Amino acid sequence: MPGTRFSDVRRFESIDSTNRYLLDEARDGAPAGVVAVADHQTAGRGRLGRSWEAPAGANLLLSVLLRPSLDPAERHLVTTAVALAAVDAIDAVHRADGAGATTAVFVKWPNDLVTTDGRKLAGVLAEADLGSGPPGRPSPVVVGIGLNVNWPASDADLPPELSGSAASLRQLTGAPVDREALLGAFLDALGPRVDALDSPGGRAGLAAELRAVCSTIGTTVRVDLPDGPIRGTATGVSDEGHLVVDVGGVTRTVVAGDVVHVRPAG
Ligand code: BTN
Repeated sequence: MPGTRFSDVRRFESIDSTNRYLLDEARDGAPAGVVAVADHQTAGRGRLGRSWEAPAGANLLLSVLLRPSLDPAERHLVTTAVALAAVDAIDAVHRADGAGATTAVFVKWPNDLVTTDGRKLAGVLAEADLGSGPPGRPSPVVVGIGLNVNWPASDADLPPELSGSAASLRQLTGAPVDREALLGAFLDALGPRVDALDSPGGRAGLAAELRAVCSTIGTTVRVDLPDGPIRGTATGVSDEGHLVVDVGGVTRTVVAGDVVHVRPAG
């Protein structure tokens, strides 16, 4: 993306993890805005120490290095900025395909993009390196997204453990999706969201955008926290990006970093 803040896009046919790569680059002083995109990852990282796997050349696997000046309490807005940019990019590419209608994609708090029926299209993983960097310079945060673009082509491609819980854009649109077009649209949409992180009004705007596309709000949830689960109704997202849950009439605010799982409460 020449002329934008994301002009340094580094491409890898195969790498262990784009998040790992940019965290190392950040330690060596790389500036905000570097992007790493991989066709394949041999040790892709997911949330909670899980792995993230996708066949070579099928999906969008990328990370962005940011150095936002944020209070620790607001750090989840970085994940939000990337998730919202991905929702926009999907919408833009789908419209460009001539399909007309908006593709229904939602953010499942804290870090997933999901379809109307709750199948996972993408996961976002933000990793901060709070110890690195010279004093006075904001610490690096690497935000990676794995977006199921052309894999799975059909449910039959999914391993049994993902059956019924994952989906791809190709399945939504009914045709192969151009990964390059999606990458361009994503970086276009991310620029203003990264700008928004710098001001209180911008951050409130990100939270408002999240509320508009967050499929968790209004649902009954069980949130697994390190000290045990809570059950209640998700009533909103705070301006800091935290989930607000009504637990039997008592309002609890849940911080993304504390969450092990958010599930529909049965
Ligand atoms: C999740 O568990 O839902 C988050 C998955 C994040 C995967 C992406 S793929 C690109 C980037 N590099 C990684 O190693 N992980 C992220």
